[in-house]
Amino acid sequence: MQTNKRPDDMQRITTKELADAFIAEQVQEVRKQVGDKKVLLALSGGVDSSVVAALLIKAIGKQLICVHVNHGLMRKNESENVVEIFRNQLDANLVYVDATDRFLDLLAGVSDPETKRKIIGKEFINVFADEARKVDGVEFLAQGTIYPDILESIKQAEGKKAVKSHHNVGGLPDDLQFSLVEPIKLLFKDEVRVVGEALGLPHGMVYRQPFPGPGLGVRCLGAITRDRLHALREADAILRDEFDKCGLAEKVWQYFVVIPDIKSVGVKDDSRYEGWPAIIRAVNTKDAMSATIEEIPYSVLAKITSRIVTEVEGINRVLYDITPKPTGTIEWE
Ligand code: XMP
Repeated sequence: MQTNKRPDDMQRITTKELADAFIAEQVQEVRKQVGDKKVLLALSGGVDSSVVAALLIKAIGKQLICVHVNHGLMRKNESENVVEIFRNQLDANLVYVDATDRFLDLLAGVSDPETKRKIIGKEFINVFADEARKVDGVEFLAQGTIYPDILESIKQAEGKKAVKSHHNVGGLPDDLQFSLVEPIKLLFKDEVRVVGEALGLPHGMVYRQPFPGPGLGVRCLGAITRDRLHALREADAILRDEFDKCGLAEKVWQYFVVIPDIKSVGVKDDSRYEGWPAIIRAVNTKDAMSATIEEIPYSVLAKITSRIVTEVEGINRVLYDITPKPTGTIEWE
């Protein structure tokens, strides 16, 4: 499928049968395009790259080399899940790189959000390129480009201004120029999910809430420190666990914890206890251009609060952000 334009008469993929037909067609296309050559893929564990990985494993097996870069800004257990699913369950050729120190060292002391994004995006390319150079004979790069990405690029080419630099991962260096394999580039997100389920990916992965490229890096506000990042990861895991338990995880578009770089005075075990506040954000949206607030039941908020302040070292308050977008963007940075 070489075109970047979705044909007007292209049927929307809404059922397993349609997804199976799409998969069979793409398996043939990819085999024809790639032959016996190797293909590289940056596998973040997000829906799009995961679906491309599963599709390509089906088409070309071990000719696909997946590289998962753990930038140290992933949510709790996320990298471990990627390794478990792709290496252990799908028998993928997976290179796992723990680059936590590289990223956190570069980010130390950096507080400007856009500079943080640029550092993370640039270092991601550096780490990925280092891994790419270690593999001989790669001719193709697979990408999880989907149709809204193409529409977005067209908008940007027309000069529309963005509030934040979301597409912060630049191109690869000149010595690494590959032909692209983009099997899902004409699909919308809901179609990607149907295809993902048809490929046998776990429900939790296929319906995973959106997670920004810079990860927890834009939720650990200001200059990132390892202790505050750790607290954020733990508090976020509690929020997700409680949302799973009460059914909100299936319903809410995006929910997460933010930790600002401030401390307040609190009390714990009869002693003064200075800690950070954990801010809960839970929003619903269609296109992320505007967003409304999910009204979390008070009992759920109370449970989350009680767990965070007792289980997470360094946090002494929990706040609930009820600001829609606009004026608040979804992320705090
Ligand atoms: P905002 O904060 O702009 O977020 O209202 C809208 C959506 O975009 C996600 N987001 C990002 N995604 N890189 C990404 O890949 C980024 O730098 C980035 N910043 C925000 C955000 O999580 C929300 O889904």
